[in-house]
Amino acid sequence: MSTTFDATVPEGLTELLEEFAISVLKERPKDLVQFAAHYFQNLHMSRQQTGGGGGSEQPVRMDVENESDEEDLEPPLSYHEALTSRRKSVFGESYEPDDEELPEKLVHPKSDSQRRRLIESVKKIFLFKSLDTEQTNEVLDAMFEKKVNRNDKVIVQGDDGDNFYVVDSGTFDVFVTRGSEEPKLVFNYNSEGSFGELALMYNTPRAATVVATSTGVLWALDRTTFRRIICGAASRKREMYQSFLESVPMLKTLEPYELLNLADALEKKQFGDGQCIIKQARIAKLTPISTKTG
Ligand code: CMP
Repeated sequence: MSTTFDATVPEGLTELLEEFAISVLKERPKDLVQFAAHYFQNLHMSRQQTGGGGGSEQPVRMDVENESDEEDLEPPLSYHEALTSRRKSVFGESYEPDDEELPEKLVHPKSDSQRRRLIESVKKIFLFKSLDTEQTNEVLDAMFEKKVNRNDKVIVQGDDGDNFYVVDSGTFDVFVTRGSEEPKLVFNYNSEGSFGELALMYNTPRAATVVATSTGVLWALDRTTFRRIICGAASRKREMYQSFLESVPMLKTLEPYELLNLADALEKKQFGDGQCIIKQARIAKLTPISTKTG
């Protein structure tokens, strides 16, 4: 009796293996088989607890009894640990919805031209890319315009986080002060980009001071709406890719904050077996150019 082999990839297998592979790259376990056994056992238990059966899961933190292995499983420094030189669990910093975040729709009325400008400004913001149409509209409704003058401090390092900002126009300098050192200019924004997500996403004090270096316009989004709609997916994506990106030799020179931005920008692409990923361009035939003088 002959048995037929069904080569169809079962639903969810690719995501499951991808997430497992990312955990391996993050944790770098000595014993891969033991790690895999714990990983899938924990995943199974967490699914039973949440009643979930499929779909993608959050990364699972390993509970391994063996002490020496536990050391190996300690995650690399996260952005905030790197900034403050304190080691905490990466997973301890992740987004946890709390009671303050009961759904409450905020609407700041806008003229048509304001809304058009706002839509243009948020188009390039990676944190918005995973939102569906309804979520995007809710966020756009809740955003409000904030005009700034040169030398205005929009954010002060150490303060509590109130808003997330998207730049509409103007230039802004970002300074980080470490210990008793002088503030160091680490970045500047010129008429695009966004800032102020860290304190809201990780419930930490502001990690930098942001100063306007020209008159400008910002779009602000309140903390509650940011956390309710944007935070979950964005912080999971950062968690998932941060350590993976840190392990890429070519990216070693990047600052922790630059790596987080890179994680926001990553897009998943699937390739079939044997499919070409990058194609070498044909070198154009050079046509000799004759120049005549006189
Ligand atoms: P947050 O800590 O909420 O407030 C200050 C913001 O500055 C921070 O979020 C980031 O969005 C932004 N920022 C830009 N560059 C950096 C940097 N190198 N380190 C920390 N924050 C930065």
